[in-house]
Amino acid sequence: MELIETTRRELVRQLDCKVQALLGRAFPDVVSENGDYYALYETPAVIMILQRGEQVIGHRCAYQRRVIIAGEPTTIGMIGGVAVAPYHRRKGLGRTLVQRAHGYLRQRSMPFSILFACEPRVYLSSGYKLMQNEMRFRDTDGAWKTFVYRGSMYAELSARSWPNQVVDLCGAVV
Ligand SMILES: CC(C)(COP(=O)(O)OP(=O)(O)OC[C@H]1O[C@@H](n2cnc3c(N)ncnc32)[C@H](O)[C@@H]1OP(=O)(O)O)[C@@H](O)C(=O)NCCC(=O)NCCS
Repeated sequence: MELIETTRRELVRQLDCKVQALLGRAFPDVVSENGDYYALYETPAVIMILQRGEQVIGHRCAYQRRVIIAGEPTTIGMIGGVAVAPYHRRKGLGRTLVQRAHGYLRQRSMPFSILFACEPRVYLSSGYKLMQNEMRFRDTDGAWKTFVYRGSMYAELSARSWPNQVVDLCGAVV
């Protein structure tokens, strides 16, 4: 099994069709058939792909975002698009992809990683906790909203503690 670290631009030349097929099956509600998963969100800082032979069996991407936490600008990581092909699930691959993302974010001195979980249970063993604080973000209709976002989770990547205060995401969720 091979872990490929790439960017959106490089992916187009390499494995785009296989990755989009995996994402389309994993997120049928958000990606239309033959749709482009990445067009739904901002461009990720890094894309990680698990490949076995010719098959793409896992994916996740990480974003870098300058947010405002308790009035202080801070660059944090956001993880999205965590997907593992059905036959390979429940073998720790999803957790491995998240841990590799944390390595990438730590190398860039990001104190926190956040994500928006459909199933929060999946991320507990990777150190994520459900947020209790409100978050200001731009919703899909373009309006700015502030509330405790359902399924929003944070992980502390350094000695800095997550402040239980309003987070201005300064953009949309991923
Ligand atoms: C969610 C998903 C990425 C998990 O991948 P995976 O490789 O099966 O996950 P892992 O084997 O690494 O499991 C990680 C943890 O999540 C738990 N878990 C995995 N799938 C779960 C599920 N459907 N419900 C509850 N817990 C689950 C595992 O038991 C494990 O817990 P542990 O670390 O405490 O032992 C995979 O099921 C998937 O691609 N689903 C469709 C896309 C999706 O929903 N992505 C997540 C969006 S938030």
